Amino acid sequence: MRLRTLRDLAVEGRRVLTRVDYNVPLQDGRVDDDTRIRATLPTLAALRERGARVILCSHLGRPKGHVREDLRLAPIAERLGELLGVGVHYVRDITGAEARAMAAQLGPGEVGLLENLRFDPREEQNDPEFARELASLAECYVNDAFGAAHRAHASTVGVAALLPSAAGLLMEREIRALTRVLDADDHPFVLILGGAKISDKIGVIENLSQRADALLFGGGMANTFLKALGHEVGRSLAEDDRLDEARRLLSLAEQRGIDVVLPSDAVVAPELSAVERARTVPIGEVGPENAIFDIGPETVARFSKVISGAALVVWNGPMGVFEVPAFREGTRGVAQAVAACPGFTVVGGGDSAAAIEELGLADQIDHVSTGGGATLEFLEGKELPGVRLLMEENR
Ligand code: 3PG
Repeated sequence: MRLRTLRDLAVEGRRVLTRVDYNVPLQDGRVDDDTRIRATLPTLAALRERGARVILCSHLGRPKGHVREDLRLAPIAERLGELLGVGVHYVRDITGAEARAMAAQLGPGEVGLLENLRFDPREEQNDPEFARELASLAECYVNDAFGAAHRAHASTVGVAALLPSAAGLLMEREIRALTRVLDADDHPFVLILGGAKISDKIGVIENLSQRADALLFGGGMANTFLKALGHEVGRSLAEDDRLDEARRLLSLAEQRGIDVVLPSDAVVAPELSAVERARTVPIGEVGPENAIFDIGPETVARFSKVISGAALVVWNGPMGVFEVPAFREGTRGVAQAVAACPGFTVVGGGDSAAAIEELGLADQIDHVSTGGGATLEFLEGKELPGVRLLMEENR
């Protein structure tokens, strides 16, 4: 099945409703991390070059159908304008008179931005009338919001059925890279998982362990595996209600002949704020008074060795509490190993992608996904509703 792309869509001179995922962190009314905005620039350039009149729409946060002043898209319009070098016609309206006037007045190559879609409760309900109102603003539809493709909302699904539609270049790039992971024929395939919980990653482990050769676990989720194997993890974050699940996943990996690598040392402290008491200990010496906040240097070295020989690496989730300098070395070390790996490397969404950006390593990774939940669901092998309607057979 083939994805319909920009090349399949006649956009010349037309009004193109373009769904993007500009759900970005804001700080003091300004965009704090513009990665997701920059990731859409190739699509915007392609549309503008062809004389399209681009009507952008996005959600921001979870306002649950109410207008929230702190979740207006004004700061995003400003940042996008800086990146494009032209003004963005932003309206504080989604499908009302102001939005219709903006859409009608846009000239070829001009860019407009509607207000936060989730201010209207009908967006998340995938309300057909709301989808019709959105569709009536344009003559065709481009979905470049991979990060929101796991949501069946009016702007991701409803409208795609009403207008000639296609995937944007970011959507296309995400699907191509993540499909390569799902169909992986590249070996050794190393899957690195971190982050707080195993409960978020069970589907990914089950699905990708059909093809992976090695599983490296760090972050809070490794504590649950360590505890399931009988190690003392003290006051560390661990999911006590998932210990059986953790044992099941470990035995599944064993049956499939996968090499599971768990931390052998860790950076511990009595609590997160007690950074002056942070120290590195072997896993056997964590003690009841401490909590694990990062993987230790020996673990980084063991992980790096496995990563260096990989033909395919997928990494999702930080190895420790990356925001706190005392606990960021594990994530930094793994990020550097992934960046140096000559194989095909994919960093999947959320915090690990942010760490890669912050460390300035993004250009050494083959694909840094802009999705959080969407990336995980894709890697679980689920069909994403926002993608399904962009496939050829659903024309
Ligand atoms: C994300 O940040 O993962 C996407 O923008 C989706 O946001 P949501 O989880 O609020 O639907």
